[in-house]
Amino acid sequence: MPAITASAPGKVILFGEHAVVYGRPAIAVPVNEVRARATVNADPRGVPGTMRIQAPAIGLDALLADLPDDQPLAAAVSSVLSMLEISRVPACTLRITSTIPLASGLGSGAAVSVAILRALSAFLGQPLSDEQVSALAFKVEKLHHGTPSGIDNTVITYVRPVYFVRGQPIQTLQVAQPFTIVIGDTGIPSPTAITVNDVRSLWGEKTAHYESLFDSAGQIARQARQAIESGRPEELGALMDTNHSLLQEMGVSSPELDRLVSAARASGARGAKLSGSGRGGNMIALASPDTASLVANALSAAGAYRTIVTTVHSK
Ligand code: PMV
Repeated sequence: MPAITASAPGKVILFGEHAVVYGRPAIAVPVNEVRARATVNADPRGVPGTMRIQAPAIGLDALLADLPDDQPLAAAVSSVLSMLEISRVPACTLRITSTIPLASGLGSGAAVSVAILRALSAFLGQPLSDEQVSALAFKVEKLHHGTPSGIDNTVITYVRPVYFVRGQPIQTLQVAQPFTIVIGDTGIPSPTAITVNDVRSLWGEKTAHYESLFDSAGQIARQARQAIESGRPEELGALMDTNHSLLQEMGVSSPELDRLVSAARASGARGAKLSGSGRGGNMIALASPDTASLVANALSAAGAYRTIVTTVHSK
């Protein structure tokens, strides 16, 4: 049996993080410059029914049977087996590698799940549909961070810019004019579950205030959708700036994120904001093809651990 490999991109949220957990729309786009990859190799001399899982980045090399059920990689594997009603895998090794930084808002967990689901189902001769992949990746996301909105598994499965409303069918965005985003990493890991829980407590204490912040973020996502679909991406800059202020008010920015956002603006970006759950992780800035490297250099000078320049288009 030949080795089967599948890969999946990272993602960034352009607008609407946190508010999306409370039913407001958000926009996210794939980031193809970073990827998670899963490869399944048959072990012709292995014991039938045994699967070895290797993920060197997290120091994992174990048999599936020895991993707890809620270990996210094991859960992704088990979800494929149960969907395909397979109780005994051919002896094989699943190896996972990724260039997506962990816990930084770039969707590494969902990308790893999507890559595993696709590689393993193809290896077993029954490739899953996009709909099945997204649904199973969502289940695994719940193990990573409790109450995910579903935005990560959606954008990463379909590899298209999406306008996402929790619980509603996926809406892909037509990008009338491609635009350039610079991503800057604070280098500070920030587990999504902790920030999402903190926001939930704050929302519980000051519900009306948080609801109005979420409403404003939702309104920005709607305006951004129009700008993207009608070929006016330059308008996204001001919308990013306003969304960042709202996220600051929600209490999810940090001095490092604010420093990178300011540096991006000062170097000619049209706007900038934190992206993802916040407190650490990544920020994004709207640039033009001409200013992207200037902005990226300014971010590095202001302490960004790494930068990625990506172009958003309809695929
Ligand atoms: O840090 P990330 O990219 O996993 O962002 C999570 C985005 C939130 O809206 C904060 C949570 C969610 O599940 O949508």
